[in-house]
Amino acid sequence: MDKLIITGGARLDGEIRISGAKNSALPILAATLLCDGPVTVGNLPHLHDITTMIELFGRMGIEPVIDEKLSVEIDPRTIKTLVAPYELVKTMRASILVLGPMVARFGYAEVALPGGCAIGSRPVDLHIRGLEAMGAHIEVEGGYIKAKSPEGGLRGAHFFFDTVSVTGTENIMMAAALATGRSVLQNAAREPEVVDLANFLNAMGANVQGAGTDTITIDGVPRLHPATYRVMPDRIETGTYLVAAAVTGGRVKVKDTDPTILEAVLEKLKEAGADITTGEDWIELNMHGKRPKAVNLRTAPYPAFPTDMQAQFISLNAIAEGTGAVIETIFENRFMHVYEMHRMGAQIQVEGNTAIVTGTKTLKGAPVMATDLRASASLVLSALVAEGDTLIDRIYHIDRGYECIEEKLQMLGAKIRRVPG
Ligand code: EPZ
Repeated sequence: MDKLIITGGARLDGEIRISGAKNSALPILAATLLCDGPVTVGNLPHLHDITTMIELFGRMGIEPVIDEKLSVEIDPRTIKTLVAPYELVKTMRASILVLGPMVARFGYAEVALPGGCAIGSRPVDLHIRGLEAMGAHIEVEGGYIKAKSPEGGLRGAHFFFDTVSVTGTENIMMAAALATGRSVLQNAAREPEVVDLANFLNAMGANVQGAGTDTITIDGVPRLHPATYRVMPDRIETGTYLVAAAVTGGRVKVKDTDPTILEAVLEKLKEAGADITTGEDWIELNMHGKRPKAVNLRTAPYPAFPTDMQAQFISLNAIAEGTGAVIETIFENRFMHVYEMHRMGAQIQVEGNTAIVTGTKTLKGAPVMATDLRASASLVLSALVAEGDTLIDRIYHIDRGYECIEEKLQMLGAKIRRVPG
């Protein structure tokens, strides 16, 4: 397994481009299954999860055409099997996103039940209940979700999400696009990636209103027509590189992004003492050599502070002036990076869903192990400021969500290299 070796101490300074959003690209690729002809999706990030989704399509008989810029053309009419196999689903939970589109477009779907993952049990009961509300008959047996649409196809329904679920909202919204009649989703997720998906569906001729609010109304249409669409920028990648500049006291300008999709993160960075300027598609953060100040934060559904930035802010607090409390309200086990940071000398105490972080002036480089995507990014951030070398193992986690992380950090002046394992 590849490893990353990072020698801490460099103050980052430079400019990088932000890639397309992984968590928008995945539902949008799934939504191409709804279309009655070839669909082109651009600005896809070059990530393992994207190739896994494309491999999943290949296993179902769809041969995506990929160009050199990683734009993908998908023609769902060539689909041969309506089964998403366990050996692929177990490597990427987001495969569940093909369930809604397959049932809506082809009347049947067999998708392996995604297991839990390092950060939590990750149930999919809301995905199943939402489709049942639309008339689908669903059995869960042998580790597979087997879903069949009713005679005449799915019917529009009112569905209340008793927990805000991003991919739950996305799955039901996609299924509703081809259902007969009106669907109203209440307590829907408001994430920008949900809005991006709604825009893509409407570009194919769907009728989705209210995405970005907690009530989404979808009037089903008989079919969706081909379209070309460009995925939005990745707000979590954006936030991660801004924190990289903040922890090293440096300066970074991130381009091809959007300052309006991570306002809660920018507010916390300003609270930590960062000087932030923005333009239409760029953000510049400058610490002017200062050490950040500790911040308190609580994760919650958008537009509140995103759980996917929690680990990165634990890294910031670990070397900040003062003490910061970090409360994780979304996932039940999302502090595993803390125990690896302890190996670097971080002063962090976990009490239930709260981590109390007492900033220290320095951390010490050490061998550490990545456990999940965002935890591994936080270990990279801590390594950037630690004294000496840090060896990060199991970095396949990082490659799922960060395109060319070592190249981008090298462009900012970091001493980082990949050691093939
Ligand atoms: C999406 O996961 C993201 N993944 C996650 O990003 C992100 O952390 C999460 O939303 C929260 O923002 C993608 O978009 C591909 P949820 P998702 O359903 O949809 C409970 C990353 O690092 N729940 O919004 O799986 C669940 O247990 C990844 O890029 C149910 O109870 O998350 C959790 O407590 C990690 N029943 C809460 O809802 C359900 O049927 C929020 O989960 C579904 C979810």
